[in-house]
Amino acid sequence: MIRQKIVAGNWKMNGSKESVSSLVNGLLEMENSGSEVVIAPSFPYLSQVDGLISGSRIVLAAQNASQEVKGAFTGEVSASMLSDFGVKYVLVGHSERRSLYGESDELVAAKVKTIFEFGLTPMLCIGETLAERESGKTLEVCERQIQAVIDLVGISAFEQLVVAYEPVWAIGTGLSASAEQAQEVHQSIRAFLAKLSESVAEKVQILYGGSVKASTSSALFQMPDVDGALVGGASLDAKEFIAIVKTAG
Ligand code: G3P
Repeated sequence: MIRQKIVAGNWKMNGSKESVSSLVNGLLEMENSGSEVVIAPSFPYLSQVDGLISGSRIVLAAQNASQEVKGAFTGEVSASMLSDFGVKYVLVGHSERRSLYGESDELVAAKVKTIFEFGLTPMLCIGETLAERESGKTLEVCERQIQAVIDLVGISAFEQLVVAYEPVWAIGTGLSASAEQAQEVHQSIRAFLAKLSESVAEKVQILYGGSVKASTSSALFQMPDVDGALVGGASLDAKEFIAIVKTAG
């Protein structure tokens, strides 16, 4: 099955009004791509970026959303608010949210459910730590993280979401998983989903994230079960991000 590639940039907690304008204007120089190009600025810049990308093919994402719909949840941001700013995707369960802010598999699943309720597309982040990989638990961890979402919203929901496999040991380290390592895990994720629904498993886009750069992305994108990338640091450099998009075809 041909799955459209997605190249998404997770800007994390970076940027200023000035740097955001400069970065987006640089990205707008990008030639049309066969891939879907997504950028995820921090919440305060969503409106500014929404305006800057208007009329372009660049798609907007948020880096998180509350599991709550609205109310007395100080500091939280609702998926309904995000839909006001043209957001299409919402990253959920990013390893930094899990490790630094204690987001459990169950909380991530609840966020996925609420994101769906407002017609947005969850980008479900999963992945193992170095210790888990070295103890042979990579698939156990990824399957556990996926199962928590299946338990709450069912397997059919995976037709409407994107999975991002981000080995924690590759995030921000400059040490990307090899194309073969990524393919092995992506293929296993797809096989795990296929146990419940072969059609869903075939359709779901599975992105790789973790130190992606233009010098490594071409080999990654040639892997049959790698449907794109979730890029961190390299997405803050317009030229590098455009170069990565070009390798996606
Ligand atoms: O969400 C993508 C991010 O975690 C990867 O970061 O800097 O390793 O590309 P980086």
